[in-house]
Amino acid sequence: MLSGGKGTRLRPITHTSAKQLVPIANKPILFYGLEAIRAAGIVDVGIIVGDTATEIEEAVGDGSAFGLKVTYIPQDAPRGLAHAVMIAEEFMGKEPFVMYLGDNLIRGGITDFVDEFQRNRPNAQILLARVDNPSDFGVAELEEGRVVRLEEKPKEPKSDLALVGVYMFDAGVFAATKSIEPSGRGELEITDAIQYLIDDGQSVRAHEVTGWWKDTGKLEDILEANRMILETIEGRIDGDVDSSSKIDGNVVVEEGAEVRGSVLRGPLVIGRNTVIQKSYVGPFTSIYHDVVIQNSELEHSIILENSRIMNLGHRMERSLVGKNVEIVQSGMMPKAYRFMVGDASRIEVP
Ligand code: G1P
Repeated sequence: MLSGGKGTRLRPITHTSAKQLVPIANKPILFYGLEAIRAAGIVDVGIIVGDTATEIEEAVGDGSAFGLKVTYIPQDAPRGLAHAVMIAEEFMGKEPFVMYLGDNLIRGGITDFVDEFQRNRPNAQILLARVDNPSDFGVAELEEGRVVRLEEKPKEPKSDLALVGVYMFDAGVFAATKSIEPSGRGELEITDAIQYLIDDGQSVRAHEVTGWWKDTGKLEDILEANRMILETIEGRIDGDVDSSSKIDGNVVVEEGAEVRGSVLRGPLVIGRNTVIQKSYVGPFTSIYHDVVIQNSELEHSIILENSRIMNLGHRMERSLVGKNVEIVQSGMMPKAYRFMVGDASRIEVP
């Protein structure tokens, strides 16, 4: 499981937090992956960690909450996915293994993928999905079902088959990671290591994703993943909703949350000890723990813990709000925007 990297496409959230811990429907992205790994029958997991190691270790612990035995493997800098494989060699030993990128979310899990590998025992197996923007990914070229060529983020992609961030390898991959050179972005690319295996005549099989898949490296993808997961939730009210509030659709109100004089239109989740007052919360919204929403309207958004949104004059949508953020209408004169905003933030006003 890879959980390092800088998360540059998700700044400013990633100035202070690991991108793999952004909650989707109030559960960190990484946890979906760990659950999928466990569901596929795997128990021993090595997590590659970088600058955000402490935060990842705090969230996952020894893995027992997931039924896993977790070992942390530090990577000194984001030197590429093949580098991450290289430094895991001792941990892996001679066993075949799954490599899972911690910011990838796959609806159908990875059990079929792992089973297929066990049945056919190729040297490597990749997971592919058809996408509209192949240039943003590693791209595979197939001939009669066989993988013949892989290219990392090609300007002129030869197909629309993107490499999903889940791979399986036998121990032969370690030699491949040592034989390749860093790419244009200065990283040892796993895509190049797999191409090396193909050129070496080893068997590389492809498996196509059946459900949906998201690489949550960018804001739009995070919001989309949140929407897709929320579509699958069932409503549950464990908090306190007063009689003047109205609830439509699948709405989760977690324990200790309070909803007063508000309209909640699901699917959405309200986290522990969050207070929603005189507000409208619309579809595809995830509000994390200890948040206050007052006299405001929002939808299609993710709000992280301890933030406060009060008296907004306009509806808020398609937003990702970090931890401990305040967005308030102060009522002070002169009527002006007043910001205290971190580096690489983005604010849109009507
Ligand atoms: C990485 C891989 C790329 C793959 C993608 C899937 O890209 O290099 O081949 O398609 O993950 O999430 P990165 O997110 O490191 O740019």
